Amino acid sequence: MKKTLPVDMLLIGMKVVGLDKSWIETSFLSHTFTIRSEKDIEKLQRNGVRTVTVEIEDPPAAVPKKTDDASLDPSPGSRPIVLAELPETAPGKIRHIQSLREETIRLLTRSFQQARIQSIIPSQEIRSHVRETVTFLLQNPSAINLLSDIHDNDDETYVHSANTMLLAAGFAIRHQMQESECVQWGLAALLHDIGKIKIPDSILKKPGPLDLAEWEIMRQHPVFGFQILRKNPDSDIHGLPAQVAVEHHERQNGTGYPHRIGLDLVHPVSRSLMVLDIFEALTANRVYRSRVSHQKVIHYLINEYADRVSVPVILELASMVGIFPVGTFLETEDGEIWMILGYEDIEKYEGKVTILDLFGPGRKLRDRPKKRTLPRINPESIARTHDYRSLGLNQEHWESLLKGTRESP
Ligand SMILES: [Fe+2]
Repeated sequence: MKKTLPVDMLLIGMKVVGLDKSWIETSFLSHTFTIRSEKDIEKLQRNGVRTVTVEIEDPPAAVPKKTDDASLDPSPGSRPIVLAELPETAPGKIRHIQSLREETIRLLTRSFQQARIQSIIPSQEIRSHVRETVTFLLQNPSAINLLSDIHDNDDETYVHSANTMLLAAGFAIRHQMQESECVQWGLAALLHDIGKIKIPDSILKKPGPLDLAEWEIMRQHPVFGFQILRKNPDSDIHGLPAQVAVEHHERQNGTGYPHRIGLDLVHPVSRSLMVLDIFEALTANRVYRSRVSHQKVIHYLINEYADRVSVPVILELASMVGIFPVGTFLETEDGEIWMILGYEDIEKYEGKVTILDLFGPGRKLRDRPKKRTLPRINPESIARTHDYRSLGLNQEHWESLLKGTRESP
């Protein structure tokens, strides 16, 4: 049910579906979003919004209780996202994520073994577990940026799938998706590599690079995954997860596999998941190499891999883990948009940071954008990141701004 409310009657957790101002008159990228904190209400007021249209479901939004058997009911349906932080300490949150992750690995180990022997997976159990994880992250949004710090040396495929599921659920929550969509993202991430159960251990666990013939076999895992998941009678499994399983190694310009289709033809979830997949794989410990830092992986993705995967997804992931690469546009809580021009230590994104203060509140281009040097970027003060295209700039403008040869687009 839709209802129009004055801004000062908004509550955290309500889903906004319309404002009393046109899109161009506000600094909001979209007029459909969920109120995540008081800051969102203040931002609406700063933009001169007086009334908003909200979508209200029955029962009205309330803080979800800690999951119990009833809330793990696998029946489909979507509940509004309610982001109300529970009073749990950061170490407590890390412990909780670690235990969810260990539970995920146990469940995956069992499920993949069952799939190998009987060709079936316990889909209800898997869905309940993903739902429990999403519920925890919804109750603890600040835990989302801790998700990338949970690696160790357990069995690679299970750990990778569990970690990717956590990243995907966090990513979906940051996009303010409905809870049911976050669960779908988590399910797709958890099962994206299930096709590896058909790859011999001699290849899967080889402690070193694969030769060409081994790669040919390894490259079949997306199709194997699709075949396994497509057969499942549960629509939550044979739908999106099957599609993501077959698409997660496709790349821009047909440089991926198995079907060599470009990014435009793959599902948006596959487009995001492929970046999370690479990030998780490179930042994790592996039997043949140790983990690479988040900064280095983001630097690599931006500078070496941006022609193969989605740049906006890389930037969104970077901001999720608190990194803002050079060339990124940051929108502050006050509605200003800065472009990152450089860091003291350019590869680690550390030290003083130089920014170009490009847009004022309401996305008004400054007459004379100014360079400023800040001691650091506080991720908590950043509302969202942009890529140059979403701000209406073309690549030439963006590059010239980066080089400092122009003061405005
Ligand atoms: Fe894969």
